[in-house]
Amino acid sequence: MDDSVLDTIGSPLVRVDGPPGATVAAKLESRNPGGSAKDRPARAMIEAAEAAGELTPGDAIVEPTSGNTGVGIAVVAAAKGYDATVVMPDSKSAERRRLIRAYGADVELVDGDISDARERADELERQGMVQLHQFENGANPQAHYETTGPEILEQLDGRRPDALVCGVGTGGTITGIGRRLRGSFPEVDVVAVEPAENAVLSGDAPGDDAYQGMGPGFVSGNLDTDLLDGVLRVDLEAAEAECRRLAREEGILVGQSSGASNLAARRVAERFAAGESPEYDPIALDGWEPRADAGTAGEDPLVLTVYWDSGERYMSTGMFAANDREESGGDEHTDTA
Ligand SMILES: Cc1ncc(COP(=O)(O)O)c(C=O)c1O
Repeated sequence: MDDSVLDTIGSPLVRVDGPPGATVAAKLESRNPGGSAKDRPARAMIEAAEAAGELTPGDAIVEPTSGNTGVGIAVVAAAKGYDATVVMPDSKSAERRRLIRAYGADVELVDGDISDARERADELERQGMVQLHQFENGANPQAHYETTGPEILEQLDGRRPDALVCGVGTGGTITGIGRRLRGSFPEVDVVAVEPAENAVLSGDAPGDDAYQGMGPGFVSGNLDTDLLDGVLRVDLEAAEAECRRLAREEGILVGQSSGASNLAARRVAERFAAGESPEYDPIALDGWEPRADAGTAGEDPLVLTVYWDSGERYMSTGMFAANDREESGGDEHTDTA
């Protein structure tokens, strides 16, 4: 028996469809108690603030977030007895707001993007709330270094990973897992995935994209860019189509950033398997070449990726509506509330 729901944080690593001659495996983070990878940094940042004496009983927590961190903070705050306020751009999915409120936290919506949410959270911090600062707080990548990374190492069953290919928001996930994998496998490639429409890591000017959680439009302090071997760009339409494919063909329901990361991981796996640079429209491969020595002796090359959350969190965005339409004769409308 676990003493707290927070002790159930953890997730499986699952082999998913890959190209012939390569293996792709994904960390299914929707299996965490709050339904996303963000339970890990939420718990770590709150416990780091407690350890530093910055958060004590009776304090209120505030954080600007596009959603999953807010849910994670709401879960941890509820389990530990803190009040919490999540400041969120009003464009993010309705499910997340409802979930955060269901855990007893307050949601404050701001007109604009994550930068506007950050400004408002700074104001609330000046009024006395404790802000966790997920983009700069070292406890965020450290949470993945100490939990997600070691889980993966155990789940590899002795195989050597050749690449970690995953999306970037705060950078906590890729930095924490990447550093841990590099500690055991110095040769592993670490490849970031970002929105094609907002490809700042690739050197583009910030743009507009409708991804939730991935592509903040700036280079986060928590992204260790020195870790990266390359950056792949995936457009949202391709990512959402990949989410529908994963659900229908593999029985795995995930959100946009997971679809994008999976597409990119599959392309990387294909390149490892074939050793060539394929033409593939939705993904531009920048500055990355497959290593010649990929694959453990006697095994296919292994590419790891992360699925941050469940597609259930995106139903109101209409991204699965293409499936619904076929069943309902084409008259399904999109609830973007
Ligand atoms: C759905 C989703 N995908 C990807 C990410 C990116 O993770 P990280 O912030 O660790 O880079 C997040 C972060 O909130 C997210 O919510």
